[in-house]
Amino acid sequence: MSESEESNLSRALARRGAHVTGIDIAPRLVEMARAKDPSGNITYQVADLCQPLPAYQDHFDLIASFFVFNDVYDYRGFLATLHSALKQAGRLVLFMNNPYSLMLRGYFTDYFAASGQTFPYRGMREEGVKVHFYHRTLEDYLAASISAGFQLQQLVDVPTPEGSFKRREETVIPEG
Ligand SMILES: C[S@@+](CC[C@H](N)C(=O)[O-])C[C@H]1O[C@@H](n2cnc3c(N)ncnc32)[C@H](O)[C@@H]1O
Repeated sequence: MSESEESNLSRALARRGAHVTGIDIAPRLVEMARAKDPSGNITYQVADLCQPLPAYQDHFDLIASFFVFNDVYDYRGFLATLHSALKQAGRLVLFMNNPYSLMLRGYFTDYFAASGQTFPYRGMREEGVKVHFYHRTLEDYLAASISAGFQLQQLVDVPTPEGSFKRREETVIPEG
């Protein structure tokens, strides 16, 4: 449901025949994503996914959210919106940072006490986009997902190979 310079998930799904709607809160990022889809096959929209989206009630077979869950100010509201936008047997695929990874990278020393802390990103600021990384524990996320009505089917923990984290200027990574 979200697309920017860094990801082409929406375009990859559209190429495979899906009818894709790409939604993000940042108008500048939506504009950039739209410019990368000259065919106009993807419907792009600016919306706050922490707020109800009645226009999309029971609408989607599949929602794929690519690295947004850690960055929303209200993760329970976000889950409620996604749940109501899915059809009855719909599926949600959530790509997210393992919250413990910030601990490993030294952003805090107490994983549990740090829950609720926010970290500003660099890299999108020059585009006029303010994004924050919100630390919450994996238990917070899982409990909220179950409360929102989701059932966990699979959890895939993907390692980040040492040194593969690119610190390019435009890369979306939390500031130290
Ligand atoms: C790390 S970026 C990932 C962007 C894109 N999915 C990608 O992979 O390149 C996080 C994205 O979450 C979006 N975002 C943050 N809060 C949001 C909200 N409440 N509703 C919708 N999008 C939000 C930001 O605008 C930003 O585009």
